[in-house]
Amino acid sequence: MSDTGGVRYLKVDTATRISKIGLGTWQFGSGEWGYGKSYAEQESQSIVRRALELGVTLFDTAEIYGLGRSERILGRAISGHRDQVFLATKILPILPVAPVVEQRAVASADRLGVRTIDLYQVHQPNPVVKDSVIMRGMRPLQRIGLIGEVGVSNYSLNRWRAAEDALGSRVLSNQVRYSLVACGPTDDLVPYAERSGRVVIAYSPLAQGFLSGRYDASRRPANRVRANSALFLPVNLERAAGLFRVLREVAEAHDATPAQTALAWVIRSPSVVAIPGASSVAQLESNVAAAEIDLTDDEWRALRDAAAKFAPATGPAALPGLVRARLGR
Ligand SMILES: NC(=O)c1ccc[n+]([C@@H]2O[C@H](COP(=O)([O-])OP(=O)(O)OC[C@H]3O[C@@H](n4cnc5c(N)ncnc54)[C@H](OP(=O)(O)O)[C@@H]3O)[C@@H](O)[C@H]2O)c1
Repeated sequence: MSDTGGVRYLKVDTATRISKIGLGTWQFGSGEWGYGKSYAEQESQSIVRRALELGVTLFDTAEIYGLGRSERILGRAISGHRDQVFLATKILPILPVAPVVEQRAVASADRLGVRTIDLYQVHQPNPVVKDSVIMRGMRPLQRIGLIGEVGVSNYSLNRWRAAEDALGSRVLSNQVRYSLVACGPTDDLVPYAERSGRVVIAYSPLAQGFLSGRYDASRRPANRVRANSALFLPVNLERAAGLFRVLREVAEAHDATPAQTALAWVIRSPSVVAIPGASSVAQLESNVAAAEIDLTDDEWRALRDAAAKFAPATGPAALPGLVRARLGR
């Protein structure tokens, strides 16, 4: 398998086509990932430039990532290439009344240095405010062309449909955690997207690097995002041995890496795209190449079955380990 070719695109009618593998940019300028200054200033620019060269169109950010830094860094990196990009950002729906929504979209577009946001997503459902309120702000933004499509994130199927009723037109996508260790969307969101021409955007498709095969109980990532994640506790890295084994076996059959195989598993449906983050250009290249891998039905099922057997310690069972990890013991 080549390292770079083979970008594939969704068959959904959007102004700019959407690549099956996009780029997530929470990492850009975010202290919690801990990638530092030269990553924020240089590596991020190289990652986006290489992604553009390879035909990646989908770039995902949010106003909250690095408190606006991610949008600024991404905006700088795509400048001069606007027509090649399907640009997605998100609003955190705190007080999501129309004037606030409108002002926040303008502020995001400003940080991104663009006139149009291709996909404006509600970052998470507001537990007390109905979507009819936020959609009152989205409609005029769409009418004047400041935003192209409306999307949601972290929505249940029922709430996604309710959001669409509230908007009165399609809510193109639902961005949700979806990977071999978070398979839930396979049961409801993905079939819905397939039936109705909608899109599931898989975030954390590598489970924040857990599925990369790089980490085990003796080699754990140190940054804040993962130090606070129960998934990366030694006990869970040990419990995942069976899943990691099957991942490696399938990867070998395709001359691929575990990370590429985990991505191929997620994007197998024609209605799913994935937005892995990348800490280097090499990771980006490897992730883009994952779109070339065609898993067989048996391989897909073997991975799903191995994933179903993985029972991580979570909640109260994980708490002592997380406290020990926080104290560095
Ligand atoms: N809507 C939401 O609520 C929400 C929530 C979370 C994320 N997101 C979006 O989804 C994007 C992706 O999710 P994520 O960043 O949480 O997790 P992810 O994409 O599953 O993991 C990204 C991390 O995995 C490692 N990695 C990436 N490619 C690799 C490769 N080829 N080989 C080995 N390791 C590799 C890198 O970390 P190391 O190299 O440091 O190991 C990288 O920072 C974010 O950037 C953001 O845009 C959205």
